[in-house]
Amino acid sequence: MKILLIGATSAIAKAVARIYAERHASFYLLARNEERLKELADDLIVRGAAAINSQVLDLTDTTSHAEVIQNAHKALEELDIALICHGTLPDQESCESDFAQAEKALNVNGLSVVSLCTEVSKILKVQGSGTLAVITSVAGDRGRQPNFVYGAAKSMVSTYLQGLRGKLLPYNVHVIDIRPGLVDSPMTAGFEKGPLWSTPELVAGKVVRSIDSKKHTVYVPGYWRIIMAFVASIPEFIFKRLKI
Ligand SMILES: NC(=O)c1ccc[n+]([C@@H]2O[C@H](COP(=O)([O-])OP(=O)(O)OC[C@H]3O[C@@H](n4cnc5c(N)ncnc54)[C@H](OP(=O)(O)O)[C@@H]3O)[C@@H](O)[C@H]2O)c1
Repeated sequence: MKILLIGATSAIAKAVARIYAERHASFYLLARNEERLKELADDLIVRGAAAINSQVLDLTDTTSHAEVIQNAHKALEELDIALICHGTLPDQESCESDFAQAEKALNVNGLSVVSLCTEVSKILKVQGSGTLAVITSVAGDRGRQPNFVYGAAKSMVSTYLQGLRGKLLPYNVHVIDIRPGLVDSPMTAGFEKGPLWSTPELVAGKVVRSIDSKKHTVYVPGYWRIIMAFVASIPEFIFKRLKI
C-alpha cells in the first residue's frame, strides 16, 4: 500500500500512519518540521513501514504543490491513499479584528487544502484508482460565534470535496471527508477537556476503517453527526443569540 501523508506530524496523522505502518505500507510524508518528521519516519520504520520518503515544506506555499506532489508520486510509483491532515486553530477574536490573521487561517485550513486536492486529483484521475481523504471538522457544519473563521475554511473544503467526489467517481477515485469533533491534540492543548473529547488514536482507527470501507462523509466519533444535526436544526433567530 502506497500512502501520501500531508501534514504528517499532526497527532491524528501520526496515529493513522502507525496503523498503516503495521500493515507494511510505504509512505511519502510532507510536513514543515524537519526534526518531528525524522522522528516520525524512524518510528514508522520500527513499526513495520516498508519504505519512507519525505519532504519538508510549509504547506501554505501553494506554488510548490504541483512539483511536490509529482515528486511524491514518482517516489511511491503509485498512490493508493492521499490523506490531508494539516491545519491550525486560529484565535477567533484576532481574526475578527485583523484580516491578516483571518487570511492566514483561511489559507492554511482552506486554500492550501484545495490546492493539494487539485494536484492529488490529477494523479489519481490518470491512475484510475485511489482514495483522497481529507480531515475537515464539525466546525464546518455551521458558523458558530467562537470559531467561524476556522469553520468557514473547513466548510469550504467540505463543499469542495462534495463536488470533487462526483467528478472523480467515473475515474474510480474515492473522496472522503472526515469530520472530527473535539480531539485532544497539540492543536487543542490549551482547552479544558470533557466527556465529548476523543483521542487521536480513536480518530485514527475510524479514519482507517472509513478508508477501508469507502465511506464518504464521516463524523468522528459518530455521535457528532447527531450533535451537528441538532446544531444545524436550531432556527437562525435563536442561533444568532447563542455563543456555542
Ligand atoms: N484537534 C481537534 O479538536 C480537531 C477537531 C476537528 C478537526 N481537526 C483537524 O484535524 C487535523 C489534524 O489536527 P490535529 O488535531 O492532529 O492537530 P495537530 O497535532 O496540531 O496537527 C496540526 C498539524 O498541522 C501542521 N501545520 C499547520 N500549519 C502548517 C503549514 N503551514 N505547513 C505545514 N504544516 C502545517 C502542524 O505542523 P507543526 O507540527 O509543524 O506545527 C501540525 O503537524 C487538522 O486539519 C485539524 O483542523 C482537529
